[in-house]
Amino acid sequence: MKIAFFSSKTYDQNSFTLANAGHAHAMTFFEAPLNADTASMAQGFPAVCVFVNDVVNRPVLETLKAQGTELIVLRCAGFNNVDLNAASELGIRVARVPAYSPHAVAEHALALILTLNRKTHRAYNRVREGNFSLDGLLGFDLAGRTVGVVGAGKIGEIFAHIMEAIGCKVLISDPYPSNTIQEKYEIVPFETLVKASDIISLHCPLTPSTHHLINEAVLSQCKRGVMLINTSRGKMVDTKAAIQALKTGQLGALGLDVYEEEGDLFFADLSSEVIQDDVFMRLLSFPNVLITGHQGFFTREALKNIADTTLANVTAFATGEGEFFEVGTEKIVG
Ligand code: NAI
Repeated sequence: MKIAFFSSKTYDQNSFTLANAGHAHAMTFFEAPLNADTASMAQGFPAVCVFVNDVVNRPVLETLKAQGTELIVLRCAGFNNVDLNAASELGIRVARVPAYSPHAVAEHALALILTLNRKTHRAYNRVREGNFSLDGLLGFDLAGRTVGVVGAGKIGEIFAHIMEAIGCKVLISDPYPSNTIQEKYEIVPFETLVKASDIISLHCPLTPSTHHLINEAVLSQCKRGVMLINTSRGKMVDTKAAIQALKTGQLGALGLDVYEEEGDLFFADLSSEVIQDDVFMRLLSFPNVLITGHQGFFTREALKNIADTTLANVTAFATGEGEFFEVGTEKIVG
């Protein structure tokens, strides 16, 4: 099948070219993101492959449909950037990669916590400059601390296991906890988790009900100096409220792999440009804020699994055989 890839990087081309040996799809890689201005590039492609920040709203879907697109394959787990109602009305099917390496994201959340707590990023620079002072590097023992996990699906469950193994007390907030989670952990309402946790880590999907889940009111209920980790989706944290809480010390540390307006920034080299996003630049000014550019998923294992499942989705769509992880209806694996 002819597939147009948007927002593609060299590592996508490499992993998909390897995975395509077993499928023989005709793949065209565009570096441009998908949006209203670029949708015309997909003319004549029955399948379009997109990533987290591509815009797949109603106008884009209408253009794609008029040009012959029948299938959107997301090479990611989250699908909040796709207007599923519009896709359904237009008869465009949407598939995703429900699980490719939940370990990758859970381990990245741990990396953010360890770096923020023990300030290894600062220590690295200091030692290279011959500065062996420990001032400002004081951390705390993670063992014995309470970690609140918001959303205990595939990623949140692994993250909970990791934190428990370190010796933390784990609290879970999830409206649909699995049996394993219910047997192993204390499930509490979100409000209880917020008040009791030393570290809060977000692992639920972005939906209308989780938009700005962390806001001014919630932050005011947290323990003073709480550490907040978001490896899920940027719009779950009200960034301006987080900045206010950082200024007062109510929020003690913030680790982000995602950002509300990351679509204008992430996955591009902007090191020679003036960044126009003042909110983002304010965040960067805090010594207790650590931001990575949506790299939680970025491991060799995950890239291979993403390419394998995405191309298998296209093959299943084309042949009617094999597993097709249609958004909203797919069998969740992992
Ligand atoms: P999942 O679907 O396995 O688990 C999500 C869990 O969140 C479910 O158990 C669900 O019941 C729960 N949930 C739903 N609404 C909730 C709410 N209001 N409060 C608490 N829990 C709620 O998803 P998975 O694979 O664990 O991924 C989680 C999220 O991680 C994705 O939605 C995506 O946004 C993000 N992600 C980030 C990546 C990165 O590179 N930083 C890569 C992959 C996923």
